[in-house]
Amino acid sequence: MVDETLSQSRDWSFPAHFFWETKTAPIKSVEIEQIQMVAEIRNFHVMQLETLKDLYIHELKDLHSAEKQLTKALPKMAKAATNERLADGFRLHLDQTQEHVNRLEKILESHDQSTRGPKCKGMEGLIEEGSEMIEEDAEDEVRDAGLIAAAQRVEHYEIAGYGCARTYAELLGDSQGAKLLQQTLDEEGATDKKLTELAKTLINIKAQ
Ligand SMILES: [Fe+2]
Ligand SMILES: [Fe+2]
Repeated sequence: MVDETLSQSRDWSFPAHFFWETKTAPIKSVEIEQIQMVAEIRNFHVMQLETLKDLYIHELKDLHSAEKQLTKALPKMAKAATNERLADGFRLHLDQTQEHVNRLEKILESHDQSTRGPKCKGMEGLIEEGSEMIEEDAEDEVRDAGLIAAAQRVEHYEIAGYGCARTYAELLGDSQGAKLLQQTLDEEGATDKKLTELAKTLINIKAQ
């Protein structure tokens, strides 16, 4: 049983550098303990995960499912965008996303693992919200602003997932995996920043 009083008395949030930093701060032993306990609790509730390695593989497969779903959604978002810079941005990120899929496959292969696993439900929901925005009967600029908001939710979701996976890779001594995951993490971060700039300079102003 999970000790309820223990889970209430602890701060379960991960420090910011777990998720997204080019230079990772040294990981403290208390943080390693925190990850292991989160892994144990997740195991207790939903998954058959016994070790941090199991959790790492699970996260890689989950990210793979998320990225695969995105490769199908991004062309639709590009088509729905009125602003050319936004449409180009979605197309560029589609190319990057395909590379993100390749990197995950490379890491999984290096651990003798297939990509097979459950569908990433988080990404499924985010894409569904994006599709609703595509179908929205709105002014072009307003729809573009909505598409940016949906895309930024996707990027933030990916940033959280890659940050965790990169940290697990480091803890497990998978330096090649950590390097590839960090590369993707940097690209997701750059995409998020570009979307913010686009929203500020082009779309939100016009939408007023
Ligand atoms: Fe990605
Ligand atoms: Fe992305």
